[in-house]
Amino acid sequence: MADSRAVGIFGAGWVGLVTGGCFAELGHEVVVRDIVPERIEALRAGHLPFHEPDLPEVLERNRGRIRYTLDADELGEADVLFICVQTPPTYSGDADLSYVWNALDELPRANRRQVLVMKSTVPVGTGDTVRAALEARGLNNVGYVSNPEFLAEGTGVRDFMNPDRLVLGAFAPEDAAVVEALYSGIEAPVVRTDVASAEMIKLAANAFLSTRISFINEIANVCELVGADVEDVAKGVGLDHRLGPHFFRAGVGWGGSCFGKDVSALKQLAGNSGYHFQLLAAVIEVNELQKRRVIAKLEKHLGKLRGKTIAVLGLAFKPNTDDLRDAPSLVIASRLLAEGASVRTWDPVADARDRLRGALQCGSVLDAVAGADAAVIVTEWPELRGLASKEVREAMARPLIVDGRNVLDPEETRAAGFAYEGIGRGSSPFASLPETPEREPKVPR
Ligand SMILES: NC(=O)c1ccc[n+]([C@@H]2O[C@H](COP(=O)([O-])OP(=O)(O)OC[C@H]3O[C@@H](n4cnc5c(N)ncnc54)[C@H](O)[C@@H]3O)[C@@H](O)[C@H]2O)c1
Repeated sequence: MADSRAVGIFGAGWVGLVTGGCFAELGHEVVVRDIVPERIEALRAGHLPFHEPDLPEVLERNRGRIRYTLDADELGEADVLFICVQTPPTYSGDADLSYVWNALDELPRANRRQVLVMKSTVPVGTGDTVRAALEARGLNNVGYVSNPEFLAEGTGVRDFMNPDRLVLGAFAPEDAAVVEALYSGIEAPVVRTDVASAEMIKLAANAFLSTRISFINEIANVCELVGADVEDVAKGVGLDHRLGPHFFRAGVGWGGSCFGKDVSALKQLAGNSGYHFQLLAAVIEVNELQKRRVIAKLEKHLGKLRGKTIAVLGLAFKPNTDDLRDAPSLVIASRLLAEGASVRTWDPVADARDRLRGALQCGSVLDAVAGADAAVIVTEWPELRGLASKEVREAMARPLIVDGRNVLDPEETRAAGFAYEGIGRGSSPFASLPETPEREPKVPR
């Protein structure tokens, strides 16, 4: 167990609350500050404002060691202050650091040395700018460490407590030591480096993970043309110890709050520094096209989509979260609506009613597929593994499944009476639906 320290956190989002809860679990006294009153009220009442497995239990277990506040001054007693605010993309694709700067403007004046830790994902060079800003404000007794976070939503607590590595980039080694000591009790290799390299490690890691997915998606697209099965191909390639199996599953493309913005931020950072990052431009484009391939797969079976009813199953950008930021489902459903289809959606936790106004969000899978001309699996929720059932087949107007995450067995699905389209799994001559006449579009009188 670590020596107990006082930890202050800016931001009660995924990263801030997992960080706060886990540091409390390690024995530290934690104060979490947010600017959204409803968020703080919910937390004080014992409610987590989003879906993240294990986190409610961690926060509850450590209730005596975590306080929630709207008042930045309450962080004045902290030994270490973590910045965990959002860094969304701007219109240009750069990272928007305005939330970071607002938090820095609100830093409480402490009468002893504090270490400020950047956990938010920021462009390389941010640490230098922050250091200069702190000095300009006479805050010379504030140390600065870049300690990027690698947790994945859905497994945040497990990832924080069992990280692959801790990255600590500091201007002064004693500041890195203070932060490293907070993590004692956690076993992980520690990468001690300068601030710029720590910032780059985070951006490069996300860019590489996204690259792997775009790569296997392109392999999948070629598999479809040449009659290979990407599932077997990915397995065979991934068993090579130099390559590994992770982040190597073909599907409808990556999404989420981090990949899109971080890949684009790195591409912009390179561009702003005079380097055209050609590979990342392709990684992003491949991903955009991948989401839209679902439309062509539907059209292959149904012809024009105007007037057709499509069930979009799974909205969150991945299972075990309700996060809809940059979710492929939103692009797919919006394209379907733009084609004139009726869209029925289902997700066990995510609510997209505000973002997909023309779609009908249903309470169950069976409700979503009722009368549908096709069902598209967009998020691999465990509930969808049993989709190829008699009940579903009878509920649908046409038994067509487009499996955007390759969760179903193609042969079993076809044997259960469905036409099946996966991603990169070739297609058999029996895959198509019988020819059906085009329905007349409904024209309002
Ligand atoms: N979500 C992830 O999986 C993940 C993983 C690793 C890194 N990151 C990075 O961590 C950062 C935070 O991500 P997130 O998903 O937790 O964001 P989030 O949007 O879930 O949470 C950010 C929180 O900060 C609050 N906030 C904004 N300004 C504030 C201020 N001045 N003082 C206090 N609170 C303030 C917001 O109200 C919000 O509650 C981002 O830079 C992100 O890229 C996220």
